This record gives sequence, C-alpha cells and structure tokens, in this order.
Amino acid sequence: MKYIIGIDLGTSGTKTVLFDSDGNVITSELYEYPMYQPENGWAEQDPDDWYNASVTTLKAVVSKVNAEDIVCIGISGQMHGLVMLDEDGKVIRPSIIWCDQRTAKECEQITQLVGKDRLMEITGNPAITGFTASKIMWVKNNEPENYAKCRHILLPKDYVRYKLTGEFATDVSDASGMQLLDIKNRCWSDEVLEKLGIDKALLAKVYESPEVTGAVTEEAAKLTGLKAGTIVVGGAGDNAAAAVGVGVVKDNTAFTTIGTSGVVFAHTSEMTVDPEGRVHTFCCAVPNAWHVMGVTQAAGLSLKWFCSNFCAAEKETAAGMGADIYELTNMEAEKSPIGANRLLYLPYLMGERTPHLDPDCRGVFFGLSAMHTKRDMIRAVMEGVSYSLRDYFEILKGMNITISDMAVCGGGASSTLWRGMLADNYNCSVKIPVSKEGPALGAAILAAVGAGLYESVEAACDTMVSYKNHQQPNYNNFEEYSKYYDVYKNVYKGLKNVYKDLNRI
Ligand code: XUL
Repeated sequence: MKYIIGIDLGTSGTKTVLFDSDGNVITSELYEYPMYQPENGWAEQDPDDWYNASVTTLKAVVSKVNAEDIVCIGISGQMHGLVMLDEDGKVIRPSIIWCDQRTAKECEQITQLVGKDRLMEITGNPAITGFTASKIMWVKNNEPENYAKCRHILLPKDYVRYKLTGEFATDVSDASGMQLLDIKNRCWSDEVLEKLGIDKALLAKVYESPEVTGAVTEEAAKLTGLKAGTIVVGGAGDNAAAAVGVGVVKDNTAFTTIGTSGVVFAHTSEMTVDPEGRVHTFCCAVPNAWHVMGVTQAAGLSLKWFCSNFCAAEKETAAGMGADIYELTNMEAEKSPIGANRLLYLPYLMGERTPHLDPDCRGVFFGLSAMHTKRDMIRAVMEGVSYSLRDYFEILKGMNITISDMAVCGGGASSTLWRGMLADNYNCSVKIPVSKEGPALGAAILAAVGAGLYESVEAACDTMVSYKNHQQPNYNNFEEYSKYYDVYKNVYKGLKNVYKDLNRI
C-alpha cells in the first residue's frame, strides 16, 4: 500500500492527514497554536509554531505506517502571511497574517506606484490590505532595520516546506495572493517588483502545485520519522487546495464554503478579471487554469454570533435533547417562510471584502416589525448569508463564468435548509463531498500527482473525490428569493454613506 500526506496549515492549527492512494483517511492529527493581536486590527503568528505543529502532527501520523510507504507530501496553507528570514534562515519578526488590517496606507502607496489598472492587469486584483505586498511595504516603511536584515520572503506553508526540505519554493496559487505575481504568465512580475522596490532575489522559486519542489532532509526525517528523501510538491493556498479536495478542477464547476467566513470559488481555464475588483482572480492548483473567488467575512460567524448572544434557552434545550444548537435553530428557521416574513439581514459584522471592499459597513436587520419572532431572525440570518454568496454567483455570471455544478462545504453545509437556500438562490443543484478534509485532501491529491500515482489532478480527483446529498433547486423558490434579493442589494446601497457617518463618531 502506498500512502500520501496532506498538511493543512490553518489559522487556528495545523492538521496533518495520512491518506491511502484512493483518498481514504488512514489517520489524522491536529495541533493548535495562538494568534497574537498586539494592536487593534493586527494579527500575527509565530512561524515556528507552524513548524512545531507540523513536526508534531507528522510524527504522530507517520508512526502509524511504514515510512517507506509514504511516497509524497503536499502542503496547503493559510494565504497571504508574510514570513521574513535573515541570511541564516532565521525568522526576523512574527508573521503578519492574512486577516491583519494595518496596511491601508501601503495599499494606497502600491496603487499609486503601480497604477490601479496596471496592478489589476498584472496581479488580477486591486491593492488589498490582507495581501502580502502591502505587508512587505509596511515593514519597509515602519521597520526599516528588519527589512534591511531580510534575505528571504516566504508564505506560511512555504516556511514549513523550507524547514522540511531546505528549499525556498512556493506554488502559483499561493504566490498569487502576494500581489507580486504576473498571474497570466504564472511568474513574478518584474514590473511590480521594480515599482515597489522589492528585490526579486528575496522571493522563492515558483512551481506549479503538483510539481516536486524538494525532498525531506536528514534532519527533518529524524524529527518526524519520515524517510529522508520523501518528496514534497508545490501544494496550494487553502482555497485552491480545498477546490482540488472537493473536485473543483474543471470548467463550469465551483464550490461554496460556509465556514466562519464564506467563499464562492469557480474554476476557469481562461483568465478573467472583474474590472471592478470585487472578486479575486488567482492562479489555481490545476496547471494552466485560474480561479475566481469571492470572500464574505461573516458567514457561519453570523449564525454563531446570533446563537451565542440570543439563543441561551435554545442552547439549554439542545443540550437536554443531546442535540446540536444548530439542529434546533434550523428547525426553528424552517417554520418561518421564504423571506422570513419580510425581514432581511446584511451579514457585514466584520465589514466586507466581496463585493463591497468596505471595512466600514456593518450587520443590519432590515424590516423588523412587532410580528417578528426569533425564528424569523434566525431564518433572516441564514438567508442574508445566502444572498451575500449569491452576490458572488451573480458577479461570476457577469464575467461569463457559467456554473452548472456546485459543491458545498464547511459547517453550514451540514444544514439541509441552508443548502436548499443556496440551491434555490443560485438556481443550480448543490452537492456535498463525502470527505470533510477539503484542503488536506487537495494537498494530498497534488502530492499523489507529483509522485506519479495519477497522470493529472483531474484524473486523481475522479478516483479520490466523491459526493453525496445532491439537492436540486426549486424554480418557484428561486423567483420568490429573487424578490427579496433585489431589496437586499438596495439596503447596502442606501446605507453605504451612513455607515461612514456612524464610523466617524
Ligand atoms: C483567502 C484568504 C483566506 C486565508 C485564510 O484570500 O484570505 O482564505 O487564506 O484561510
């Protein structure tokens, strides 16, 4: 039996999963670590926490089989985080990670230096605070002594790769989120680097995701139990890896995640950029293909927020029944009709990325009347998140990206009601992947291709990914939801400037 390993380097922890070559989970291990917020809006992590977590989890899973039988490793990682190393390969400062918001000024600087249109043309995106380029510029502007010491710039998963293999390498999907990549030609952009004054020698070598980037060193082998020489492939950023793990590797396929945040991710073999920059365009983990992706900040978070603050009694009842609070809130929401008796919810609890790129907007219940009950409010929250995801679906349609096949994953996907809302709002059938290991499975699939077990990512997915619970849309519901969706869109338009007034107080 041959085995492959997928490492998923997340924000709350690293999960390492050992799969067989058909994609079945043999064993997995999770190791958590903290995120530091030294100032409001800042978010940092210690890269050595990521490496220690990888070593600990690798050691646990490798011990379950003969290390000789593990043929390859793939790594998926939280995107955009900035890791800076000195000439000895030592970490210079904590990593500034994806959700850090300190770089608004640097985004203006980048737009000015490169030009808004040129930046979109080359990197596929407008300057965004979460992306790595603005973090590099922040260190340059604010910590020149650290910048002067810097010899290597890596992304989170690529730091772990460096420690395992000694190689400075990255993959096209993760590199896209640095905003320094020419995403059409899948290489670093000399023009952007020159205009920002960043030396290309600081950056890692760029590979396609299934390509072999190096092999486990003797030292890493001793620490992990892996065989020295075990190959490591490029891997992918977490969303691109998840796409592979849920089988979204061909045109017309897409997936929606309802986790803490929400994502709509569509595969496209032709590079397409939204001229308004409302959705991200990145290289995807399938060679010669791209993806377009929208991210809502508070998807599952909206329901969690509502339940934590207003559903103490339901929590107690659920505990008494030995059920999950969300099973109960689902049952309540089902008793409210489509439109929640004319109640709308805007899920902007954390500001919003797609489609508004507006840090000032906030959550709203619109249309509250004395007749409304908690069940209407729960339903409105679930519908509001669905409308927000529908926004991206509509933008993708406007970019001529047709979606006929939608996988749904994340905690929200376990709700039949929520899946139905998505199917009806998209007017497209939805299905759940059997495996819940999305990014880790995706990384392992890329590894399986790199090891030569499959001839392509598509072929590997045909064997290693399967689905259940196909749900068809109901056209009458689509028409009914559409009436509310039109009003939902107008509520943001009406409040756009008022949000700013509130924020100024
Ligand atoms: C993608 C993004 C997140 C992070 C953390 O643009 O910011 O998905 O990769 O998960």
